[in-house]
Amino acid sequence: MLTEVTVTRYILPLREGGSLPGLVEADDLGTYVLKFTGAGQGRKTLIAEVVCGELARRLGLRVPRLVTVDLDPVLGLGEPDQQVQDLLKSSGGTNLGMDFLSGALGFDPLAFEVSPEEAGRIVWFDALVNNVDRSWRNPNLLRWRGEVWLIDHGATMIWHHNWPGAETSAARPYDTSDHALARFAPDIRAAAAALAPLVTEELLAEVTAEIPDAWLVDEPGFAAPDDLRRAYARPLLARAATIHDRIRGHR
Ligand SMILES: Nc1ncnc2c1ncn2[C@@H]1O[C@H](COP(=O)(O)OP(=O)(O)O)[C@@H](O)[C@H]1O
Ligand SMILES: [Mg+2]
Repeated sequence: MLTEVTVTRYILPLREGGSLPGLVEADDLGTYVLKFTGAGQGRKTLIAEVVCGELARRLGLRVPRLVTVDLDPVLGLGEPDQQVQDLLKSSGGTNLGMDFLSGALGFDPLAFEVSPEEAGRIVWFDALVNNVDRSWRNPNLLRWRGEVWLIDHGATMIWHHNWPGAETSAARPYDTSDHALARFAPDIRAAAAALAPLVTEELLAEVTAEIPDAWLVDEPGFAAPDDLRRAYARPLLARAATIHDRIRGHR
């Protein structure tokens, strides 16, 4: 289970991307980037963050620690910004938090060097989860203490927006021509050889067990949260074995 904390103070909005995550302080005195259950795609974005973040971590990639964050919507009452106020008010209950990497820099593909091995692992992972949000325009990679960290896995696993078509959708190739790391000659073959065997049914069960039940209820066609957890695992298991042959666009 992810550690659970409670928001004690809303600090400020992070206005870089579209979803307006907030910087908050919690009852454990930690500072977190908060992703709101009441934002745009809401719960599915948060599920994608948990599945991809926890999977990436288990594959040895760097991802800030994830926590669940309980929020009292009353915190919204004192917010002068209407958009922020609405987000806080509509996000009572369980939200997602991640460790705020203080002093991190946005990754600049022209200013930093990444080895073909590391680029290969990240590109292969993005292909696995079908991440469409790691372009050179918007890398969603941070540079912190000299290393590359992965953030923002909300726009992945497009198939979870249409479960009946999931198998067909997950069979599609992955195009890397826009990928932030395409220019680093990613060694995808080596990455696949090292990482694909790690993506087992057991590992995916462990990863999907981290999704809070509260985000899994009421999905049409699924009687229980564990059925939906298995639906998240299935396309990833299938894709892990073969996706390296369907990655296109890199040099
Ligand atoms: N864990 C983190 N530590 C430091 N800064 C972060 C962290 N997560 C996000 N940020 C900053 O906030 C911005 C927006 O977060 P992101 O997860 O990309 O959400 P979105 O793009 O949906 O708004 C990032 O581009 C980055 O600058
Ligand atoms: Mg982003």
